[in-house]
Amino acid sequence: MTFTQAKPLAMLTRQDFPILHQSIHGKPLVYLDNAATSQKPLAVLQALQYYYEHDNANVHRGAHTLSSRATDAYEGARDKVAAFVNARSRQEIVYTRNASEAINLVAYAWGMNTLQAGDEIILSVMEHHSNLVPWQFVAQRTGAVLKFVELTATQEFDFEQFKSLLSPQTKLVSVVHVSNTLGCINPVKEICAEAHKVGARVLIDACQSAPHMTLDVQEIDCDWLVASGHKMCAPTGIGFLYGKLDLLREMPPFLGGGEMIADVFLDHSTYADLPHKFEAGTPAIAEAIALGAAVDYLTNLGMDKIHAYEEELTAYLFAQLAQIPAVQIYGPQPNADGSGRAALAAFTTGEVHPHDLSTLLDQSGVAIRSGHHCTQPLHRHLNVASTARTSLYFYNTREDIDIFIASLKETLDFFGNIFAE
Ligand SMILES: Cc1ncc(COP(=O)(O)O)c(C=O)c1O
Repeated sequence: MTFTQAKPLAMLTRQDFPILHQSIHGKPLVYLDNAATSQKPLAVLQALQYYYEHDNANVHRGAHTLSSRATDAYEGARDKVAAFVNARSRQEIVYTRNASEAINLVAYAWGMNTLQAGDEIILSVMEHHSNLVPWQFVAQRTGAVLKFVELTATQEFDFEQFKSLLSPQTKLVSVVHVSNTLGCINPVKEICAEAHKVGARVLIDACQSAPHMTLDVQEIDCDWLVASGHKMCAPTGIGFLYGKLDLLREMPPFLGGGEMIADVFLDHSTYADLPHKFEAGTPAIAEAIALGAAVDYLTNLGMDKIHAYEEELTAYLFAQLAQIPAVQIYGPQPNADGSGRAALAAFTTGEVHPHDLSTLLDQSGVAIRSGHHCTQPLHRHLNVASTARTSLYFYNTREDIDIFIASLKETLDFFGNIFAE
């Protein structure tokens, strides 16, 4: 394909990201570790600063002006998140510290109290540790059994095998929407439909989809969905859980403390209405408000435009990587137009260790990730100890990819010479 259609989304947005305009080891920074965390635009940084300069006070507690301003901004951000994922109600959005905490909330409040010995939980071998370990806790405590969806020949979610795992014993399916290692986009709507046929609940880990594509929880029809703010231009320390209203109502609280109560007596308490029942203690107020600013920023750019631009970058990245014979990429190939998978590539390069690769690329100002990316079981399944991963966002350019590819070639040549000696 010819790479001509790209809307220069990066050209429009790069000036919004001060961090991108710096040198690392004397070379312009090329940040390609966006699946780990995204950079933050000025609008988000300013939201944080504005809050602390003008509105800082505790929420839901004071009758004074600052407290009501802080509360309005904090709750206003919840409305933005609810609209971002098309929730039916703002009460369906619970702030958490991150996606990991959101999954733990469901594991403890629902899993530990609902599941029994012999019940089955279906996960997949590509899950992030955050969507494995909490369910291991639940299985160990309740006697529930973990089952795993494996990969097709193209290293994607094996939907046929998934269907064969479903049974009346299946009580939960908890799967990733977009794999942070394979880059495959899982058919979450179809997964929910099949799981619901046997009466199972479904949790979707949207960490790698929420930043990059339009999400519609009503269309997907998931029971819960989790995401981390820091991967979608918001600060660290804030994420969210979406849950269907009736289900959240049925679930007992996760953490106890201030904010989550209606009445407290010495020996028992009654609980606040949703979503506050799940938000014990002083929350990450500034971070939640900044998440609202991030959602505004992404929405103004247009999630469809972000997705389309990233598809074009994906096509370009894969075309360039294909010219380096030593590179083996995991996960499915993109379609010719870059669609069909996420804008990331986890790869190995023969004998060169991914850590050595990323250390040397850093010398050229190029930031990529190496390791198991918190998907150790997947790496074991693929029979590889670690991979290097380059992951893109809308502020990346083809020039970024060119610099990455040139540095990668240079590094591989360097090691090739060493190995030849
Ligand atoms: C697919 C996926 N799930 C869950 C997580 C966990 O996110 P956090 O560490 O922000 O809780 C990540 C982060 O890398 C991820 O990529």
